[in-house]
Amino acid sequence: MLDGKRILLIVGGGIAAFKTLELIRLIRKSGGAVTPVLTRAAKEFVTPLSASALAADKVYTDLFDLTDEAEMGHIELSRSADLVVVAPATADLLAKMAGGHADDLASTLLMATDTPVLIAPAMNVRMWLHPANQRNLTTLENDGIFRIGPDEGDMACGEYGPGRMAEPEAILDSIASALGNGPLSGKHVVVTSGPTHEPIDPVRYIANRSSGAQGTAIAKALAGLGAKVTFVTGPAEVAPPSGVSVIPVETADQMLNAVKAALPADAAVFAAAVADWRVTRAAKGKIKKGKSGAPPKLNLDENPDILATVARMRKNRPELVVGFAAETDNVLANATAKRKRKRCDWIVANDVSPETGIMGGDENAVTLIDAKGAESWPRASKVEVARRLAARIADALK
Ligand code: CTP
Repeated sequence: MLDGKRILLIVGGGIAAFKTLELIRLIRKSGGAVTPVLTRAAKEFVTPLSASALAADKVYTDLFDLTDEAEMGHIELSRSADLVVVAPATADLLAKMAGGHADDLASTLLMATDTPVLIAPAMNVRMWLHPANQRNLTTLENDGIFRIGPDEGDMACGEYGPGRMAEPEAILDSIASALGNGPLSGKHVVVTSGPTHEPIDPVRYIANRSSGAQGTAIAKALAGLGAKVTFVTGPAEVAPPSGVSVIPVETADQMLNAVKAALPADAAVFAAAVADWRVTRAAKGKIKKGKSGAPPKLNLDENPDILATVARMRKNRPELVVGFAAETDNVLANATAKRKRKRCDWIVANDVSPETGIMGGDENAVTLIDAKGAESWPRASKVEVARRLAARIADALK
């Protein structure tokens, strides 16, 4: 996957640095070469000796190491790589990068390089969400930096939320993708996500409990494998991923039009919880409580079925059409029937009964149904389910 590629790996000072050692191993196993650079803080978490042993290369730590300057200057060190990877990218490193600081070897290398840079952020959830960090991130993204993660979950500091460094396997996939060599490089995938809002009047709407977490995780995982992703999302709670083309919509009608406009695509994944009905004629002004006290009557029309529409297209039908089936009863039977009825290639079935905590929760337990049969996956985080599904999609589109 990384044959002959040189990675300059900048290790920041965070607890996730221990996972970076595994990343070094994975890069080498995939045929790449790694030159590690440890910041002063990183040396508190991993030793230069272990990084150097795994990389089978010299480890650089100091800017003013004259022997190194004679052998290979920092400019040369940063430019001889095919990709610079920063993992873990701490809040401090991101701030230095965004501000253009160059006061140690790591930041100087990042300033001196003209090679693409991939960051794998890791920090406490409050630090991640802090406006200063988010501002720095926007600056870096505008500069064209690649990013993987952070993941959401339990953190070493005992808190829960976004901030955990992406797993080494996911970072490896992103490295391959950043080098234009991901398993989905050159492929276009459309993903729908989130709920839709169907207006009743200008202030009220019909909606559902979808948070958009599963669709967002799928879009992220597909982009991590190198796919060009068009992400058509209803008003979701979860922020859309970076590195994908985001098309925000409100209603099912708008979602259908956005999906049609995004085609052709190699695959389409319909993870949105589309409202089945819309109010026949949404009121132009706010509906007032009548004098009679009787509630207004709402006439409903059926919304277009986006998945079925795309799966039945003669022209422009993606090679692989993947639907979801949110069921509360007879999950397998209903989902199997739904796959046939909607003519999609795969259905990802999940039990959304309230006791499962899946709708709006962080985990999912799914069964993948295709023409050959059904395969149940163990309950896992939505991020893990997304990674698995993205890997299957990559296999199918080979
Ligand atoms: N879907 C869609 N457009 C709709 C309704 C659903 O694209 N108007 C897609 C969803 O994104 C999902 C799949 O169809 O991939 C199944 O959604 P689900 O809510 O489980 O099924 P419904 O079509 O609503 O069927 P039912 O109400 O009978 O369960």
